[in-house]
Amino acid sequence: MQRCNSQLPLLIVTTAFLGVVIGVGIAPAQETNRPWMDSHLSPGERSELVLKQLTLDEKLALVHGNGMSGESQWRMPLTPLTNGGAGYTQGVERLGIPPLIISDAGYGVRASGANGRYSTAMPSNLGAASSWDPESACQFGEVIGGELRAQGFDVTLGGGVNLTREPRNGRTFEYAGEDPLLAGTLVGNMMKCEQGQHVIGDIKHYSVNDQETGRFVVNAVISKRVMQESDLLAFHIAISIANPGAVMCSYNRINGDFGCENSYTLQDVLKKDWGFKGFVISDWGGTHSTEKASSAGLDQEQPMADYFGLKLKEAVDAGRVPLSEIDDHARRVLYAEFLAGIVDDPPHKSVVNVEKGLEVAQRIEEKSIVLLKNNQAVLPIIPSKVHSIAMIGGHADVGMISGGGSAQVDPPGGNAIMPPGKGGTHWQDHIWFPTSPLQALRAKLPNTTIEFNPGTDLQSAASFAKTADVAIVFAYQWESEGMDLPNLSLPDNQDALIEQIAAANPHTIVVLETGTAVTMPWLDKVAGVVEVWYAGSAGHKALANILLGDVNPSGKLAMTFPKGEADLPRPLVVSLPPNDEGQGHFAVNSETRVSSYAVHYDEGSEVGYKWYEAQHKQPLFPFGFGLSYTSYAYSGLSVDSSAKTVRFTVKNTGKRTGTEIAEVYATLPKEADESFKRLVGWKRVTLAPGESQDVTVAIDPRQLQIFDESENTWKMTSGEYGILVGPSSESTPLKANLRIH
Ligand code: BGC
Repeated sequence: MQRCNSQLPLLIVTTAFLGVVIGVGIAPAQETNRPWMDSHLSPGERSELVLKQLTLDEKLALVHGNGMSGESQWRMPLTPLTNGGAGYTQGVERLGIPPLIISDAGYGVRASGANGRYSTAMPSNLGAASSWDPESACQFGEVIGGELRAQGFDVTLGGGVNLTREPRNGRTFEYAGEDPLLAGTLVGNMMKCEQGQHVIGDIKHYSVNDQETGRFVVNAVISKRVMQESDLLAFHIAISIANPGAVMCSYNRINGDFGCENSYTLQDVLKKDWGFKGFVISDWGGTHSTEKASSAGLDQEQPMADYFGLKLKEAVDAGRVPLSEIDDHARRVLYAEFLAGIVDDPPHKSVVNVEKGLEVAQRIEEKSIVLLKNNQAVLPIIPSKVHSIAMIGGHADVGMISGGGSAQVDPPGGNAIMPPGKGGTHWQDHIWFPTSPLQALRAKLPNTTIEFNPGTDLQSAASFAKTADVAIVFAYQWESEGMDLPNLSLPDNQDALIEQIAAANPHTIVVLETGTAVTMPWLDKVAGVVEVWYAGSAGHKALANILLGDVNPSGKLAMTFPKGEADLPRPLVVSLPPNDEGQGHFAVNSETRVSSYAVHYDEGSEVGYKWYEAQHKQPLFPFGFGLSYTSYAYSGLSVDSSAKTVRFTVKNTGKRTGTEIAEVYATLPKEADESFKRLVGWKRVTLAPGESQDVTVAIDPRQLQIFDESENTWKMTSGEYGILVGPSSESTPLKANLRIH
């Protein structure tokens, strides 16, 4: 300790000396030639200084892409500069403005395999949302941001925050669940920390992009009030926390206009009301016009230059697009570059810190696993009592499944269920990471007999399970961008497999590797259910720790699990009209191609748990639900109406240390005419056995307000608000009132 202290002054002197030497050489040159390199200036000031230097062509080069790596329909002369990523936009080399080198990075950096690189897969975004932990979200983003930079990228396309209106949405695993406060807070923290690594952050897909069916044309019909109180609220919270450089507009239409040419969502809400200063980047092929999109607030077309290339230049020359609009687009791109720090600190390729990534991925997964059922304490497994375990199904001998589409992270060594060397990943392949639960359990239980059966033959799997002390069935459900699930049932006859195993062994535990909710017709017959989501690069180790009780489960559902599709707002995903005009097309010209495909979001703000409560439907597992190996008691709620804080006590009444997520909900006064509660805050509390803690949760007033469409403003209703506190949206033992005058 002393040695460290004694060396400190020397270090300071040396650094100061170096600073003087370096400063003498560089500072004056920078000040004279490149005043925007003065990092004391704000990103706004710096971008303005650069903008003044730009020619029209340089400005125009900033507002479009140059193709996408590996996509034959999206090739342009500069496509090789994408670094194997999703896109490339030229910088201004003569002024020291780096190009945008863009990669997808939903739960890890995409397409590493094709580029001979390595990326860590975090748990799926929905999985990580079950931690309800902003700190974990931050670490999630930090790892991805660091790996993007190490691979030579400076823009991320992560940051999905679309609400789970449609649980069969094939991208549910890429988002953070059904509640705007929870999703917005977690995605915001993730992207804040990702951008903190000096990559331009992105929040997507703006907005109401809540299903994949007909995604290039579907018209989301939804009132402004509803949008503001649900889907847009999630975006606003995430954007306020992350302050991202970019927001990606979505493929779908919103009340008629495409997401990337919707002046209400882009101009009125995002840029004017929320004061977003970064740039709006189109989803890939989501630009449909030149003048309309430009004036509506789209700043950059990706990945091509179909509408914002030559056509935009012609429109400017002809006076159809004012120069001020081009300035605004270019300024915003420059702003994002300064904001994220990529002008001062462009990416340098280096070796990814694999160990750090794996460590973080494991810790987050341990906080994200949700224990859904645990009859007669079948879990945790006690080695002295359990001498044999039968593991069945889900390729659990070799790995665990992952989510597909543009979020897909490549598994080291290739797809674990393919023969070695045959594991390259392709669009919509079902990819298993080489994270073998069988090996992870065997490593922790050297004295227990653990065997595997693939579960393909039901009879043999049942007889295999019969003789073991415990049977663990691994069930999966694969999801991807570009498709919706037909239903929430487990595919491939897995329900029947579970039934058979449960009939053969009373100590059957089901491990679910799913991207969204699943139905569980066998629930009453099994002893335990553990939801591990898409568990990422270290999911097997996290799972083993949970199964053995080395880690006490603490995750809680970020989305409701319904009993069946009949209980959803739409029992079936609305199908596309036959031969619909726009089906399957990227970049359809919005002036000439029309589609009649629409989804009416008549459930309004009743998204997720709010729907079940308002419609008096009992879910299978409610939002916010999750068990632990210990138990907790709630008491002593008091509410401070003027400070808008609530206080209560949580006690660990069991025998193990654990972390409880204490949830706070509010109901609005009668005048607001709202028949559901809203999540208004939560706290993660770690408690030793017998320990209690007083918890204070501050309520953000916005969570109590309603959006007045006629005045375009948020309003607080006067009256009595109900405050409800407890372990899930359905169990709120503490109740009190909050009065607002
Ligand atoms: C997806 C985006 C993705 C982009 C680039 C689109 O199809 O919707 O989420 O970032 O492709 O790969």
